Amino acid sequence: MTKLLDHKRIERNVTVLGVLALLVVTIGGLVEIAPLFWLDSTVEKVEGMRPYTPLELAGRNIYIREGCYLCHSQMIRPFRDETERYGHYSLAAESMYDHPFQWGSKRTGPDLARVGGRYSDQWHVAHLKDPRAVVPKSIMPTYQFLAEHELNAGDISKDLKVLRIEGVPYTDEDISKANDDLKAQADPDADATSLIARYPKAQARDYDGDPKKLTEMDALVAYLQMLGTLVDFKAAAPQEEAK
Ligand code: HEC
Repeated sequence: MTKLLDHKRIERNVTVLGVLALLVVTIGGLVEIAPLFWLDSTVEKVEGMRPYTPLELAGRNIYIREGCYLCHSQMIRPFRDETERYGHYSLAAESMYDHPFQWGSKRTGPDLARVGGRYSDQWHVAHLKDPRAVVPKSIMPTYQFLAEHELNAGDISKDLKVLRIEGVPYTDEDISKANDDLKAQADPDADATSLIARYPKAQARDYDGDPKKLTEMDALVAYLQMLGTLVDFKAAAPQEEAK
């Protein structure tokens, strides 16, 4: 066999083997890790992405509190069976304002990354109150109480402030108006023009069927109805793929 690299000798001398192995791992590690120090971001920006409105954020907090992520993922993988069922695969930018992200690791129920706009508000309310009422074989738990509990989000501007520290670009105006924005988005009588100007594509309406009360149901449905609606894939898709 070749004498060029006498591997046998290296493998029999544990010190030499250790030093050489360390050298190889160090070079490999540097090549992988060093470039990250010079990159501002590994996430490519995508048009349409904006931070959550205060009401959506309150809904997201309920989603996390209730552990919806234990049964639902929010990450469509780039495989044909997934994209045909759920839509365009998820982009990194679509969860860039999620702290923590909700990718999930288990799908007892379907992926929710693009559930926004797929059903009516009434469907969501009926489904959350009693999943069996609309999907007879569903094993999803009931969340009737969400419609009864008034939304108690505390001072939601604090949530925005913390997220800003984490890099979500909320403006001072967003933060100072956060508590008004929260109410305005679910109140059909309120003026939501300022909200929509600052949060493009925000949907302002009563969600739970009871315009007089701001409930946890309002917030959760507002959150579900915006999931996956911010990036316009139809405009971005090649002609033959666009529907
Ligand atoms: C024990 C597991 C489980 C938990 C927890 C759970 N779900 Fe589900 N979910 C399911 C299953 C199973 C389905 C499919 C059957 C159905 O539609 O009810 C489903 C369906 C859904 C759908 C319809 C999706 C579609 O594309 O048809 C939505 C929306 C939804 N869940 C939202 C939620 C929310 C919000 C929460 C938390 C408040 C939640 N789920 C908690 C199991 C769960």
